[in-house]
Amino acid sequence: MKHIRFGVIGCGLMGREFASAAARWFHLSDLDFAPQIVAVCDANLAAANWFKQRVPTVRLVTNDYQELLMDKEIDAVYCAVPHHLHAQIYVDIIRAGKHLLGEKPFGIDLQANEAILAAIEQNPNVLVRCSSEFPFFPGAYRIGQWIREGRYGQIIDVEAGFWHSSDLDPGKMINWKRRVATNGEYGCMGDLGIHVVHLPLRFGWRPKNVRALLAKVVPERPDKQGQMVPCETWDNAVLGCEVQTPDQAFPMLLSMKRIAPGNANTWFIRINGTKLSAEFSTKHPKQVRSLPYTPGGAQAWRIEDVPYQSAYQTITGEIFEFGFSDAILQMWAAFCDELVNGKAMLQPFYCATPQEAAESHRLFTAALASRVSAATVAMA
Ligand SMILES: NC(=O)c1ccc[n+]([C@@H]2O[C@H](COP(=O)([O-])OP(=O)(O)OC[C@H]3O[C@@H](n4cnc5c(N)ncnc54)[C@H](O)[C@@H]3O)[C@@H](O)[C@H]2O)c1
Repeated sequence: MKHIRFGVIGCGLMGREFASAAARWFHLSDLDFAPQIVAVCDANLAAANWFKQRVPTVRLVTNDYQELLMDKEIDAVYCAVPHHLHAQIYVDIIRAGKHLLGEKPFGIDLQANEAILAAIEQNPNVLVRCSSEFPFFPGAYRIGQWIREGRYGQIIDVEAGFWHSSDLDPGKMINWKRRVATNGEYGCMGDLGIHVVHLPLRFGWRPKNVRALLAKVVPERPDKQGQMVPCETWDNAVLGCEVQTPDQAFPMLLSMKRIAPGNANTWFIRINGTKLSAEFSTKHPKQVRSLPYTPGGAQAWRIEDVPYQSAYQTITGEIFEFGFSDAILQMWAAFCDELVNGKAMLQPFYCATPQEAAESHRLFTAALASRVSAATVAMA
């Protein structure tokens, strides 16, 4: 068993998800590599100590990430901190020669993202990937397999989205994700967007332009003291794009919504093609809808309960249900697999790349410009 020694910077919601995935690594069958969390850092030491109390391999707890980066016994870092800190900390991690799985959006804005990309270019031996777990749901993974097999025919149109709804409650307290200084001008696009564009970009469906409709629904929220303060970021975004590939052109509708009533964490993708249409949504995590078509034949949607089968084999029986933390585990397997095996990884779906994250930044930047001009903006 090859152990990859990890440091975690940012021990909040997502940091703890990694701890949980690493702790149940034996859930994955027949892998000869595993992450081992040896060091943790959080500005709030109580958050870091959560790890100390639960993860026996942790030997360093600090509130100074530079101390963690100086540790020569650390191979890789998972960084899950607020967006305004991405550029500085990711660049420092990469320059320290540590492999990095960084959280999205990979920089608070385009300029921050470009700084990260420049550091990657100067340190080509470091593996850097961006977190995006939903493509590892079995239904989504199957939709990707059908792409690799060329099953859709000519693409008619595509729709993808990620919808939340807890912000419908005007009494929900403000946090860093609702402030421009910490979350960024992109608002919901920065927060939810890479999840939406990861698969389309992986399939080669780069938007050539965008017309964005952005909405602020709840203008203020209570802070910890109960005072009402401005809720600054965009709540909802609908992006109408035209995709042009070497051999086809089609419309693509991307939506990122913090206020989509009734949708707790709904990630979906719908692809309509002349030979096959298919749809997967985490709302019905077991099901994939598909409609294979031959000219003149019947047009009938088929709904299948997909087996518990993602990128990597597990101990779980095929009939059982797959969930968010399973997708996180699979994503981590893909990152560690690529780190250990490079291009010879055990299955073909690698984590989102910095180039895909950079493409998402160009799209969201163009979307902000489209909002200002109320016009379609060409992608640079
Ligand atoms: N992949 C996903 O599904 C997913 C889901 C939620 C959040 N995220 C992303 O994860 C990242 C973190 O989000 P979260 O929800 O875990 O936030 P969080 O607020 O729960 O955790 C962030 C942690 O970073 C710590 N921190 C702040 N400044 C720091 C510093 N200078 N050094 C070290 N630690 C510092 C905070 O104390 C906090 O514990 C963001 O980039 C967010 O977009 C990803």
